[in-house]
Amino acid sequence: MNTPTSPSIVDLPLRTWDDPEARALSGEALAALEQGQVLHFPQLSFPLSAEETALLDPALTDPKRKNISLSARGLAGTVAEGETRERLHATLARFRDQSGILLDALFPGYSATRHSPATSLRLHAIGTWHPSWRKDDRLLHVDAFPSRPLRGERILRVFNNINPHGVPRTWHAGGSFETTARHYLPALNKPWHPWLAGLMNTLGITKQRRTEYDHLMLQLHDNMKRDADYQREGDWVEVNFMPGHTWVCYSDQVPHAALSGQFMLEQTWHVPLAAMSHTELAPVRVLERLMGRPLLV
Ligand code: SIN
Ligand code: FE
Repeated sequence: MNTPTSPSIVDLPLRTWDDPEARALSGEALAALEQGQVLHFPQLSFPLSAEETALLDPALTDPKRKNISLSARGLAGTVAEGETRERLHATLARFRDQSGILLDALFPGYSATRHSPATSLRLHAIGTWHPSWRKDDRLLHVDAFPSRPLRGERILRVFNNINPHGVPRTWHAGGSFETTARHYLPALNKPWHPWLAGLMNTLGITKQRRTEYDHLMLQLHDNMKRDADYQREGDWVEVNFMPGHTWVCYSDQVPHAALSGQFMLEQTWHVPLAAMSHTELAPVRVLERLMGRPLLV
């Protein structure tokens, strides 16, 4: 069931990645994005050539990895070699570039400073790759990653369902970040040790030094996934993202779970707080207001 009337999902009518209509929608899109809604583009597809469709084979993923990925360090997470590897690289780069064009038009205020693009090709059917409950994205969560502290920066993601057999990607999504944070904050009681954050960074366990914000977000992620009542009764809606649909959200803010589906492209960017038009809506600012103290320390 699609729920275009849900306050959590906003349907937008763009048809191409460089659709000139995007500029006219940018005010509405930016407000919805920063408020924690999912922007849904039911007519915005990422057509694959026959050669690219042949890449939709889970066996191309390195068995030790969840996804095939492309970042500044190059292509990773695949056992493919030669021409197949080159084709994977080109497909992921094409998705990164197309998403960038869309984001430039919708969110021109982010263009100068959004950074660290990472693209992923998710070939496994949901439910076939989740070594632990903590990594099981069928459970509602906000994104927070142990090795990648964000120090308050935002996780902006563009998704496209590229399933060639008509299979939707079914998500539970939405609900207010602030309501969720208020509910869980009293239980986030793991002690915060700045010296430990420093040590983990020195040892290379984290890519940058964690702040107390990162420490809280990791606990929020885990506590949400562990809470069976919230998984059943939280303030989310079920939405089917059909093949050929694109959707965009701040995944550090929007509670989300991927219930079923197979074959998706996903593009991540990090957005500095200073680029936002309503910084007070960022998870770090919401948590600081609720805690009554700065968390980027
Ligand atoms: C997630 O970001 O939690 C999973 C999204 C997906 O695989 O559809
Ligand atoms: Fe997630």
